[in-house]
Amino acid sequence: PLIKDLFGLTELEKQLCSHLGLKRVVIVPGDADRSDWVKQEMGRAGARLLKQLARPKQVIAVAGGTTVAAVANMITASPGLKETTFVPARGGLGEAVELEANYIASLMAQKSGGQYRLMHVPDQLSDDAYETLVREPHIQEVLELVRSARIVVHGIGDARAMATRRKSTPSLLQQLEREGAVGEAFGYYFNRQGKIVYRGRSIGLHVSDLDRVEYTVAVAGGSSKAEAVAAICPVVGRDTLITDEAAARAILAH
Ligand code: BG6
Repeated sequence: PLIKDLFGLTELEKQLCSHLGLKRVVIVPGDADRSDWVKQEMGRAGARLLKQLARPKQVIAVAGGTTVAAVANMITASPGLKETTFVPARGGLGEAVELEANYIASLMAQKSGGQYRLMHVPDQLSDDAYETLVREPHIQEVLELVRSARIVVHGIGDARAMATRRKSTPSLLQQLEREGAVGEAFGYYFNRQGKIVYRGRSIGLHVSDLDRVEYTVAVAGGSSKAEAVAAICPVVGRDTLITDEAAARAILAH
C-alpha cells in the first residue's frame, strides 16, 4: 500500500472505480504494452485476490489470454485453493493452446494444488456436429460445473487485436469494423457503448450468466486496451478490475 501511495495509485483506483461503476479496482504501476513485467504484476495481484477470496469446494471459471495466464503463473499452493475446481469459462475460441482457457485452468490447478475439468469443444464444427457434441453427457457435466462457478476470471482484449490473433477471416474483420467493435471478452465483441455486436459460436458461460456469479475478476492493462476496458467493464460483471496505470490514466482522460 505504501508504494501505491507513492505513485498516487490509491486515488486513481478510487476514481476509476466510480468512473466504471465497479466494486473494486486494483492498479499496478506502469504500462503492460511497454513492459511484460507489468503484466506479471497484474498476474500477481490477481493471484493474491484469488487466494483471499477462496472458499472450500468452490468452482473458478477462467478465460484465456496472456493476462489470465500471468495470473495462473503467479498462483502458489494454498490451503484455500486446494479444494477449488478450475474450469474453462468457454470452449475453444481459436487461440494458441497455451492461451486457451482449458490449458490455463489446468495450470491454475497444478500451481494451487486444486482440481480441474476440461471442455474439449473445437470451434470449427458443422452445425450438426456441434449440436451432437454439446449434448454429450460429459460436456453437459462440465457445462453444469462452469455455470456453478463462484468466481470468474477473464481478460479483455482490443477487438481488432483479438480478431487478428484468432485468425478471423477478412470478412469478419470488416464486419467488426462496421459494427464499431472496440473490445472483446471471452469470445464476445463489444462496441463503445458496451453492446455485444458479435459472438462466435462456442459453449460455456454467457455474459448473462455473470449476473449469478459471486465475483467477476477482469484482468487487463496496457494503454492500447483503454477503450476496450472502458466499454466492457461497466457492462460485464461490474465487480473487480485489475489493471495498470497506463490503461487507468487513458480511461480517465476520456
Ligand atoms: C482471450 C479471452 O483468450 O484473451 C478473452 O478469451 C480476452 O477474454 C483475451 O479478452 C485477452 O488476451 P490477452 O492476451 O490480451 O490477455
